[in-house]
Amino acid sequence: MTNAHAKPTLRVDDVACFFDVSPSWFDRTVMRKPQRTLKAVDGLSFVIPRGTTFSIVGESGCGKSTLARMVVGLYQPTRGTLSFADGSGRDGFVRTQMIFQDPFASLNPRWRVGAIIAEPIKQMALRPSGVETQARVRQLLETVGLSGQDSNRYPHEFSGGQRQRISIARALAAEPEFLVCDEPTSALDVSVQAQILNLLKDLQRELGLTYLFISHNLAAVRHVSDRVAVMYLGRIVEEAATDEVFERPQHP
Ligand SMILES: Nc1ncnc2c1ncn2[C@@H]1O[C@H](COP(=O)(O)OP(=O)(O)OP(=O)(O)O)[C@@H](O)[C@H]1O
Ligand SMILES: [Mg+2]
Repeated sequence: MTNAHAKPTLRVDDVACFFDVSPSWFDRTVMRKPQRTLKAVDGLSFVIPRGTTFSIVGESGCGKSTLARMVVGLYQPTRGTLSFADGSGRDGFVRTQMIFQDPFASLNPRWRVGAIIAEPIKQMALRPSGVETQARVRQLLETVGLSGQDSNRYPHEFSGGQRQRISIARALAAEPEFLVCDEPTSALDVSVQAQILNLLKDLQRELGLTYLFISHNLAAVRHVSDRVAVMYLGRIVEEAATDEVFERPQHP
């Protein structure tokens, strides 16, 4: 599918993310309870070459979403660095977008689909006029397998799979090079999951996107990934090419 020797798009070096989960001030000072730190992510290192898919699997609470949030800049790492390089291999800014698990919660129910997808285009001034923004919205809807006319409808008028397509169109509207997909199909019916995975694969091929893909669904991971890392308690305990992990797994 991809060239594993391409220049890295994302380099993660000894990244950690700790949360202060101490008891309240009263409990600490009066009841003498100690301060507590939760090490959600504790020393991850990996490289994702441009145009490839790197997947993270691991049990609930092992730190996958915390990593995803650091990659898109929602959390700052406590330690370590995340560095992006663009297509020329220069260090710098790479546009990242995130696709969330729940397409029901992540779309504003009061907005028409057209307005939802136009939002990043307007915010980043990617098109010079309203007419061109609308044309771009229609094009994005068709790219994800919906119709241009769907822009006048509201999110609740769509099925779960269609809503995830709308989330993907909104993410693409920002013209990202890098997509973080955090459990993108786990809220969907099994029959719909494969369609969304195939859409993500097609988009990767057409647009040269790089993916960080997080999932509990091992069949999905096998279908889309070039490399797979197994996380356990905030660390990577195994990392290999997809076929290797599935043929000779070191961890259950
Ligand atoms: N903002 C936060 N404040 C405190 N603790 C947090 C915060 N975010 C995550 N955690 C904790 O960090 C740990 C890792 O959480 P995270 O959401 O990254 O796990 P996950 O691997 O995505 O799990 P799941 O598979 O259930 O989505 C958990 O113990 C969680 O409770
Ligand atoms: Mg999670």
